[in-house]
Amino acid sequence: MKLKRLNFLVGLLSLLVLFLAGRIEAGTLPRVLVLATGGTIAGAANGNSDTGYSAGQLGIEEIIKSAPGIDSLPVSVKAEQVVNISSQDMNFEVWRKLAMRISQAVENEEADGFVITHGTDTMEETAFFLSQVLDIDNPVVFVGSMRPATQISADGPQNLLDAIKTASCIDSFGRGVMICFNGRILDARHAVKASCLEVTAFDSTIGGSIGFTDGHGVHYITPGGLHKHKTYKLDFTKITELPKTDVIYICADMDGGMIRDCVKRGAKGVVIAGVGDGNMPEDCLKACKEVSAQGVQVVRSSRVFQGYTHRDHEFKDADYGTYAAYDLNPAKARILLQLLLACKVSDPQKIQAAFNGDRHGVLYYIEK
Ligand code: DGL
Repeated sequence: MKLKRLNFLVGLLSLLVLFLAGRIEAGTLPRVLVLATGGTIAGAANGNSDTGYSAGQLGIEEIIKSAPGIDSLPVSVKAEQVVNISSQDMNFEVWRKLAMRISQAVENEEADGFVITHGTDTMEETAFFLSQVLDIDNPVVFVGSMRPATQISADGPQNLLDAIKTASCIDSFGRGVMICFNGRILDARHAVKASCLEVTAFDSTIGGSIGFTDGHGVHYITPGGLHKHKTYKLDFTKITELPKTDVIYICADMDGGMIRDCVKRGAKGVVIAGVGDGNMPEDCLKACKEVSAQGVQVVRSSRVFQGYTHRDHEFKDADYGTYAAYDLNPAKARILLQLLLACKVSDPQKIQAAFNGDRHGVLYYIEK
């Protein structure tokens, strides 16, 4: 009996090897689609100083040509220029375009992995937005640079090579959206621009890198598939705009005036970049209670670079109508709140669960 089973397994294995060999023989290299949006990686010197430059000057074909080694990778690379802007001008319209193009390319089986070239200033926001609205296993890897293509020791070429390697690596499947920068691979949920100076510009707000790239390939430190633990599904195709949602940066001895004013100016959501664990002075808390009673959704995040904002930590959130952003920094909490408002999610349990949703195992509320 055992011999029979062994023969069956050996037969199955050899079929699998033949199939895979056939695919490689057929020249079906992993296919990576590069979607370019601009930023410093497309920047060129503007003569203002020895490091002065203008972002979004070079087209993606030129950028790919500037990265020796891409054409010798066992990867089939195609590129499309979506926009060519500085990322401080990034907007929902471009986010939507990227999400539609990636979804379409996956549906039509045009590509196995995706690289998005992007300015570093808001890269973490675009990456997080796509991590929330895309429901795919294909890797989406963001990349940029701190030095323009025309500067000595430009970091763009190596970063782009690393990103293409990451997007074409089988181990990258099921990891959602990532940022690949200076050899580090970071999860879109926790990646943050941590330096305006250094080429190691990106860091993680929690848990560090999930992997790294080097001359030997792509190496992951964490298991894949964590990003699938969402407690909600968002259909972005029905969203035509994101409701006005403001971030209020909290300091000592501040009153709640800015919270009240932003609501008077039409904000439907407010994100508090609080001190410590999302804390704020008394009058700010009072203002949160007032605007929450008017139907505005208020989420507490933190101005602190690393860590969590916990629900019911120093006070009961329900007493002020606030939610805890958990592991999202203010910029990302804003995007998730805008998506929930756009999808008319108003159930308090669903809103809080969404902020905890990707961190499986730590749910204040289990969605009914
Ligand atoms: N203008 C900034 C941007 O496009 C430059 C920063 C960069 O790309 O590194 O995000």
